[in-house]
Amino acid sequence: MTAILAIDQGTSGTKAIVVDDEDGTVAIAEETICPAYLAGGGVEQDPHELLDSVLEAGRRAVSAAGRPIDCVALANQGETVLAWDPRTGAPLSQAIVWQDRRAESVCRELTAHAARIARRTGLVLDPYFSAPKMTWLRRNVTREGVVTTTDTWLVHQLTGEFVTDAATASRSLILDLDSVTWDGELAGLFGLGEERLPRVVAGDEIVGTTRAFGGDIPVAGLIVDQQAALLAENCLEPGTAKCTYGTGAFLLANTGRNAVRSAAGLTTSVAWRSAGQTPYCVDGQVYTVASAVRWLQDLGLIRSATDLDAVAGADAGGVLCVPAFAGLAAPWWAPRAAASFTGLTLATRREHLVLAVLQGVAAQVAELCSLVAADLGRPLTRLRADGGLTQSATLMQAQADIGQIPVDIYPHAHATPLGAAALARCALDPTLSLEEAVGDWQSATVYEPRWSPDRAEEFRTTWAQAAAACADKGEHT
Ligand code: G3P
Repeated sequence: MTAILAIDQGTSGTKAIVVDDEDGTVAIAEETICPAYLAGGGVEQDPHELLDSVLEAGRRAVSAAGRPIDCVALANQGETVLAWDPRTGAPLSQAIVWQDRRAESVCRELTAHAARIARRTGLVLDPYFSAPKMTWLRRNVTREGVVTTTDTWLVHQLTGEFVTDAATASRSLILDLDSVTWDGELAGLFGLGEERLPRVVAGDEIVGTTRAFGGDIPVAGLIVDQQAALLAENCLEPGTAKCTYGTGAFLLANTGRNAVRSAAGLTTSVAWRSAGQTPYCVDGQVYTVASAVRWLQDLGLIRSATDLDAVAGADAGGVLCVPAFAGLAAPWWAPRAAASFTGLTLATRREHLVLAVLQGVAAQVAELCSLVAADLGRPLTRLRADGGLTQSATLMQAQADIGQIPVDIYPHAHATPLGAAALARCALDPTLSLEEAVGDWQSATVYEPRWSPDRAEEFRTTWAQAAAACADKGEHT
């Protein structure tokens, strides 16, 4: 029996599960994280809160599991960065969260190099990714210590090592996607040429040991969270895709061993590195999903996410929402775009606004499905879905209706840590294949499209016009 403590350090919280190969998931513990939303598009987290949440959730899960742990795995939010002192491990800045838009000015300065950067990295020059944030942090906060993504800091806290995994590194804009090595020239372009960059490791590599959870436990299974969910959902074959509905929604499709550059405005990253293989994926993003739901909550329109289905109306009363609360990603790439509601009248009620937000998310994911299909050269026939907001039947039905695609809900509430755990199991047992470590799954809940194709098409055309208007307005503000 092999027991893995798998920790998912996400934007809105940290989840820790203990999973073993005989009994499945035997313990779960969660800690909430509260990012600070600043004027001017800043989103920050307190690094101490991140670390405490990892330790607290991990220890509670271990204690609830009541069995020895063989390995600790860690999935991380992909593009969040901080500065820290490598001698003491002490943070030297707040964590600048992936949703933070303040590095937009850095990207604007490099516009002339955008095509070269895209060719080398597979990414679009946008403040979402980690390198522009590091540059912004160096210019505006501190030049002391090292500046890295949060995974490097957390793993250093646990093991003393200075590493990042290949998938997280591929979210930076300074990694050569084909060789999976840091690109010194691009680092220089971002003013990061003198920075000490972490060693890039495979997901199935044991990077060190930790005493944080009792005993001396190996640490392996390092991977960015969205790719971890892709793995957990068994998207191992080229052409398979999933969408995770968390803080944001992230649609990823496995493209196999070729780092195919998207022709449709998506980005390309390393899916994972395991058994010497490096499959890639294309991905598209909706930056605010649970964040948009939290905004509805902060406004008092719902009490919590569990209210969504009860409050959302049967129709949106003509209200249309583009949920660009933190800018628009693929294919618009408009970091300064803001969310819009159109069609408001004196008859608009909260049930209309709530449904409009959910339909807006579904419409944006539907756009991403079309872009993925364009890159793959064939339509997606089904959409695998995971994440907390798959619990909203209204959102999932809207996804099936607007996207005209059956949606298969992943049966486990925690796909991300399960993906990291699968890599950790491969690290402990190199004879185990990734297919064996992940295992197959069946959906207990499937949402079939109920709207006619014409109705879906009409909705999507109107919504796409509203999204283009948001992107255009962002350009001119
Ligand atoms: O790219 C951002 C992503 O890694 C954040 O994921 O799970 O915190 O919504 P999550």
